[in-house]
Amino acid sequence: MLKNTRIFVKRLGNSDIQPATEFAFKMIKEVYGRGIDPVWDHDLLNFEDLYIKTRGNTFLAAFNENGEIVGTLAVRRYDGRIKSLEGFYDLKATAELAKCYVDRKYRRRGIGSLLVKEAEQFCRGAGYKVIYLHTHMYLPGAYEFWHSQGFKLRLDEGGPRQTVHMEKFLSP
Ligand SMILES: CC(C)(COP(=O)(O)OP(=O)(O)OC[C@H]1O[C@@H](n2cnc3c(N)ncnc32)[C@H](O)[C@@H]1OP(=O)(O)O)[C@@H](O)C(=O)NCCC(=O)NCCS
Repeated sequence: MLKNTRIFVKRLGNSDIQPATEFAFKMIKEVYGRGIDPVWDHDLLNFEDLYIKTRGNTFLAAFNENGEIVGTLAVRRYDGRIKSLEGFYDLKATAELAKCYVDRKYRRRGIGSLLVKEAEQFCRGAGYKVIYLHTHMYLPGAYEFWHSQGFKLRLDEGGPRQTVHMEKFLSP
């Protein structure tokens, strides 16, 4: 349940690209301690093509009462790029979630959950049957968050990046 009713979530359009990418890059620096990377951030650097013009993809943001972005969540068709997952997913019916960040000051107020709820609604409308994502066990609370949203572990890769792959099958 949303614990702050003055937060609203919407799918982003062209006028939101600058504040959304600024927020996401700030969060990437804070969460992963890195700057902009042309490989990892290819989506943010090609925001309009990927998240606005491509059917089946969208970028959601949560806004506070001052119209500032306080959370983001990207939805896009899963492209099958991860070797260890080959054969698990029907690429025509699988979405991937990424760029899930909530401003530190706004955490544990249901904003992440609200973004996921909206993403699931979008995915159902787009005809996806399953949602895939990966996260890292070293991120405080990230696995617990996805677990609380009904995502189940598909594969624990371990290793230095502590990557875990998770999935959720959508009910019709
Ligand atoms: C993970 C993240 C998106 C969660 O956002 P949020 O808005 O705080 O999440 P919610 O308030 O909707 O939390 C829903 C539930 O998830 C679980 N949860 C969330 N954060 C948690 C934490 N730090 N520790 C344990 N459980 C947590 C709880 O069950 C929580 O319900 P509760 O508050 O009633 O106990 C946020 O902490 C974040 O941006 N973290 C840094 C970036 C990151 O790790 N992103 C995920 C990368 S894949």
